[in-house]
Amino acid sequence: MNQPIRWGILGTGIIARQFAEALHHVPDAQLQAVASRTHDTALALGRDFAVPTCHGSYAALAADPDVDVIYIATPHPLHADNARLCLQAGKPVLCEKPFTMHAGQARSVVALAREKQLFLMEAMWSRFLPGIVEAKRLIDSGLIGRAQHVQADFGYYAEVGPEHRLLDPALGGGALLDLGIYPLSMAAYFLGPVASAHAIAEIGATGVDEQTAFTLRHAGGGLSSCFCSFRVTTLRELVISGPLGSVRIARPFSEARHITIALTGAEERYITMPLIGNGYAHEAIEVGRCLRAGLRESPVMPLDQTVALLDSLDQMRSQIGLRYPADGE
Ligand SMILES: NC(=O)c1ccc[n+]([C@@H]2O[C@H](COP(=O)([O-])OP(=O)(O)OC[C@H]3O[C@@H](n4cnc5c(N)ncnc54)[C@H](OP(=O)(O)O)[C@@H]3O)[C@@H](O)[C@H]2O)c1
Repeated sequence: MNQPIRWGILGTGIIARQFAEALHHVPDAQLQAVASRTHDTALALGRDFAVPTCHGSYAALAADPDVDVIYIATPHPLHADNARLCLQAGKPVLCEKPFTMHAGQARSVVALAREKQLFLMEAMWSRFLPGIVEAKRLIDSGLIGRAQHVQADFGYYAEVGPEHRLLDPALGGGALLDLGIYPLSMAAYFLGPVASAHAIAEIGATGVDEQTAFTLRHAGGGLSSCFCSFRVTTLRELVISGPLGSVRIARPFSEARHITIALTGAEERYITMPLIGNGYAHEAIEVGRCLRAGLRESPVMPLDQTVALLDSLDQMRSQIGLRYPADGE
């Protein structure tokens, strides 16, 4: 119980390095091992972050007895297989977003974790940022009355070629799966389960959506207006509104440090929230908390919600004609 949680990182790309950096800020965590498809690449990351064990295959990491939990940091089409590999080997898993390519894959991975009685969570790190935690607390306290609208945008100009994973269909490219999952997830967090989703998109030369606008109807009432894009850099804001006013969070998906409270008849109020390191520490802290408490999923990002969000993504993908090789699996 008093020992640090020993993490393994599967994959060595951009987000793997960010997460390795974040673990330095988690007091009861230790980066024990990393794995790459090639030993040299694992060693390169291992050297940079003083990692004790560097594996030249993902299977070797899954089998490593000194690792307590594995963070999956590969492109989305790999997530389902990588998660199954780790779960089959008896390892709890934190898996990058989008959790899988479609809801069918997500259901099978969740079923395996439940069968093996192992912890599993989608790495929707934004839900654990202190600013989002505080906004949720304020809204649940009734500050704006019953929340009935969410507006959320996540767009940035991605200066990448067609071979880059953001645009390559074989690597799960496209704005909806890469960025749209954030506004979608946050809308469901604040307004509850999505009853129906309607999307329009602009598809680029590689066949994936480069920008998508979508609206959501929530089962318990309320509507959301969302946008994601690789073509334009948007303000990146999350606004939750109710009859008494609105709560606006700047950069909600990556820092959520600045909150504005705008209530009818009152001066606007501003709150600044802290952020540990680059922000990824907060989800790692939640995983550690769950593991120590013997939880198999986080109440903040439950598995049924992860699957339901993929159902919504599937629905929107069929509306905009966005297909992937993984759709047959
Ligand atoms: N939470 C966030 O803020 C955030 C930010 C960025 C990305 N992400 C998510 O994290 C995942 C990875 O994104 P990334 O930007 O880190 O990608 P990346 O830089 O391309 O790295 C992906 C890593 O996956 C491994 N990999 C395994 N099979 C691969 C294949 N066929 N092609 C390419 N790489 C392969 C590679 O590691 P080895 O060669 O060492 O095996 C590679 O370094 C995506 O699902 C993305 O949505 C999340």
